[in-house]
Amino acid sequence: MDKFIFVLGSNWQLSIAELDNVLKFSQFKGKITDYSANIAVVQFEDLHKDRHYINKLMELQFILGGTQKIARIYDFIDIRTIQTAFPLQIEKFKMVETTRKKISVILDNLLDNSFRKIKNENIFFAVSIYPILYDEEYYKKVLVKHFLPFLNKEIMVILKQKGAKKSLYYEYPEEYMKSGNLNPIFPHHLIKYGLFNQDRAEIIFGFSEEGVYIARTFTCDDPNFKKRIDEERPHKEFKSAISPKLTIIMLNFLNLFEQREDKKILDPFVGNGTIPLFALIEDFQIYGSDVDSKKVNNTIRNLNWLLEELEEPIPPLLNERFREIDVRFLSNYFEQDFFDGICTEPTLGPFYKKRPYYSEAVEVIKNQLEPLYEAIFKESYKILKIHSRICIVAPIINTIDGGDVQMDIIKFAINNNFKLIPMIDMNRIINKSNIKLQFRRQHTKSLIDAKKGQILKRKIYVFEKQD
Ligand SMILES: C[S@@+](CC[C@H](N)C(=O)[O-])C[C@H]1O[C@@H](n2cnc3c(N)ncnc32)[C@H](O)[C@@H]1O
Repeated sequence: MDKFIFVLGSNWQLSIAELDNVLKFSQFKGKITDYSANIAVVQFEDLHKDRHYINKLMELQFILGGTQKIARIYDFIDIRTIQTAFPLQIEKFKMVETTRKKISVILDNLLDNSFRKIKNENIFFAVSIYPILYDEEYYKKVLVKHFLPFLNKEIMVILKQKGAKKSLYYEYPEEYMKSGNLNPIFPHHLIKYGLFNQDRAEIIFGFSEEGVYIARTFTCDDPNFKKRIDEERPHKEFKSAISPKLTIIMLNFLNLFEQREDKKILDPFVGNGTIPLFALIEDFQIYGSDVDSKKVNNTIRNLNWLLEELEEPIPPLLNERFREIDVRFLSNYFEQDFFDGICTEPTLGPFYKKRPYYSEAVEVIKNQLEPLYEAIFKESYKILKIHSRICIVAPIINTIDGGDVQMDIIKFAINNNFKLIPMIDMNRIINKSNIKLQFRRQHTKSLIDAKKGQILKRKIYVFEKQD
């Protein structure tokens, strides 16, 4: 089977949107053939035929902000077989036993295919189960408590039968197994336990409504690297900063995949520079501005710190590309049609510790934010190349007495000759019967990035400059 599992980040809708966009427009052409809230199954047009496909997967992993791991699929078991072997309540013991034996045969073949050598090796493996949704009863009661121990034991025994000198598995903490609240092994553990070595492996069992895909992990995100940049840079303000993950996802919606080193992108609200920092890592030519000169200096210092950390030379005139500019006058400072993309998180309003009243939120939006967003589109139109994109965050404010308040940013964009680009292409997304897995048509225009109960949510939009 020439398919791959992409393990999705916590905002699975945003992760799928990003992945599908990259598979549609980048050189890594492919399609999502199945998905759940935790995994996407990808079939490439030709990447898998490349002799060095693992290197290609690593490149792809590096580009994607919303993918945690990529694993090659070796087998598939349909959902009926799994549910017969591991029912919520055992009634027919004989059926359970014979179906489990069938699964053992599948595991036997899988291990021959996924390990280059077993005989005389000391093998260490970790089993990770990705359910359709973490909060489902079947995951907590059956998959964690029965399927996982079965897999650990069976795989261990089969490896021994195949001549492994030793065969050991990763043991999850007892208390998580008991409660059923288990997270599969994290990417940084994959790195720590050396699970990409020849005699080690993470074996993923990724569920969709159709069945379970069995795969071996080949590459994972290095969250410690991004975290270190985000947290150790000299200047940082946690309350107003966008996350590295979201930054990378937004950069991918600019649809600039080829020759990134020549693509000029701007953040006109740099703050402490999260967007340029990660855009630099992703190879873009970065520019930035902010009305606050202190913020501009912070960004410059952060960038110089990063380049020193990476032991890379400082590009000529880098500091000059960051300037104190009020967004309303951007076009006075940059040439017309200069940029290939704009990626930005403008001021999102006050930092609320408590939910505001509806009338307060409406006032902030009307008086402060709407004029600012209108100016962004007016000025961006002048300095962006034709058909170039702007990926932008807009706020949703959750109020005490009136629910969510937000502005009509689409109106400002259209008035200034930008076209809205839906973040999800519904023609490429397959149907799902579980309502929690469906993308609703009206929600595809933009996607939200927020944690449960957050007062200020980020809504992400993509627009394209028209002729
Ligand atoms: C939400 S912060 C951006 C945070 C940034 N993404 C980061 O990670 O550090 C918004 C920034 O917009 C700047 N700003 C506010 N009004 C502006 C204006 N009219 N023109 C340009 N920048 C402005 C503020 O100084 C602030 O640094």
